[in-house]
Amino acid sequence: QMSDQDLIKRAAYIKSELGDTLFIPGHHYQKDEVIQFADVTGDSLQLARLSASNQTARYIVFCGVHFMAETADILTDDEQTVILPDMRAGCSMADMATKEQTEAAWEKLTDEFGDTIIPLTYVNSSAEIKAFVGRNGGATVTSSNAKAMLEWAFTKKKRILFLPDQHLGRNTAYELGIPLDEMVIWNQLTEEVEGSCKKDKVKMILWKGHCSVHEKFRLEHVNKIRAEEPERKIIVHPECTWDVVNASDDAGSTKYIIDQIKAAPTGTKWAIGTEMNLVNRLMNTHPDQSIRSLNPDMCPCLTMNRIDLPHFVWTLEQIAEGQPVNVITVDEETAQSAKLAIERMFTCV
Ligand code: 13P
Ligand code: SF4
Repeated sequence: QMSDQDLIKRAAYIKSELGDTLFIPGHHYQKDEVIQFADVTGDSLQLARLSASNQTARYIVFCGVHFMAETADILTDDEQTVILPDMRAGCSMADMATKEQTEAAWEKLTDEFGDTIIPLTYVNSSAEIKAFVGRNGGATVTSSNAKAMLEWAFTKKKRILFLPDQHLGRNTAYELGIPLDEMVIWNQLTEEVEGSCKKDKVKMILWKGHCSVHEKFRLEHVNKIRAEEPERKIIVHPECTWDVVNASDDAGSTKYIIDQIKAAPTGTKWAIGTEMNLVNRLMNTHPDQSIRSLNPDMCPCLTMNRIDLPHFVWTLEQIAEGQPVNVITVDEETAQSAKLAIERMFTCV
C-alpha cells in the first residue's frame, strides 16, 4: 500500500510522462486530492464542451460521474478513450429514468396529449435516455442553460416532458412564468400522471426524479438563517426543491455559484446549498468571506466521492502500462442519437 505522498508523486510522474496525450477534466464536486491533477475544472456544460474540443488526448480520465464520462465518449473521436476511475461513480438521479420506463411513459403520454410534447433531458441521465430524447426531436439541458433550453422547446411544442429531475424542471419553468398548477408529475413507477391540472392547460410534465444530495437542503434551514442572520445570502443549486429555491436569494449551476462568490466583496456572508466538496473548497479559497453550508450537516455526493486518489492513480498506472481499465463506451447507435440531443443544446446556447 502506497502512502498518499507516494500516490501524489506517481500521479505527477505519469501525468508528465503522458503529456498532452492525457486529459483530465474534473467536476467541481470532486475531492481536492484528485482536483489537484485536473487539467480543467468546470460544471457539466463546460466539461462536455472541453472534452468535445480536445484534439490531442488519447486518454481522457474523467473525474466526475458516469453520465459525464458517457457524454465525453459520445462527443470525442473513436481513437480517444474515456476512463472513469471508479465504475461505481454513478448518479442516483440518472438511475431514476430507465430506457424502458421512458419508452412506456412516452407511449402513454403521446396517447393522452398527441403530438404536442417535446422531451428534454437534464444531462444527468444515461446515454440511452439522451438517445431517446434525440430520436424524438428533443435536446439535453444543463443547470446552466435550462432556461434557454425550455424557451427553445416551447417554440417547438406546447408542452415539455422533462427528465429526470423534477426540481430543475419545476424551478426553471417557474422562472419562465409558468405557474405551478400548470405542471404535473409523471410517476414512472405507477405509470400515471400526478396532479390536478386540466389536461389542456398542462405545460410541464415532470419526471419523478430528484437528487438525494440536494433534497437535504430544506426550507427550515433557509428560515433559520433568515431569522438569525438576515444579512447572510443564500445561494443554492437548482436541483434543490422549489420551496428552497424560491426562498433563497439566488440559484444556479456550480459554475454560477462559484462566479457569484468570486465577485463578492470581502466580508460577504453566504449559506450555500450544494455538494460539500465544493462548499469546502469555496470556504478555503475565500477566507475573507464567511461561507457555510445551508445545511449544517455537510451534504456529500457519495458517488462523486468514489473517485479518490488510489483509484485515480490506479487508472493512470494502467494507462502507462498500455492496459487501460474502466473504459466507458457508448454503442454507436445510441451515441448517434444522443449526440443529436446534445448538439441541439450546443447550437441553442
Ligand atoms: P452542474 O452542471 O451545475 O455542475 O451540476 C452537475 C450536478 O451533478 C449537480 O448535482
Ligand atoms: Fe447526481 Fe446529485 Fe451527485 Fe449531482 S449531486 S452527481 S445529481 S447524485
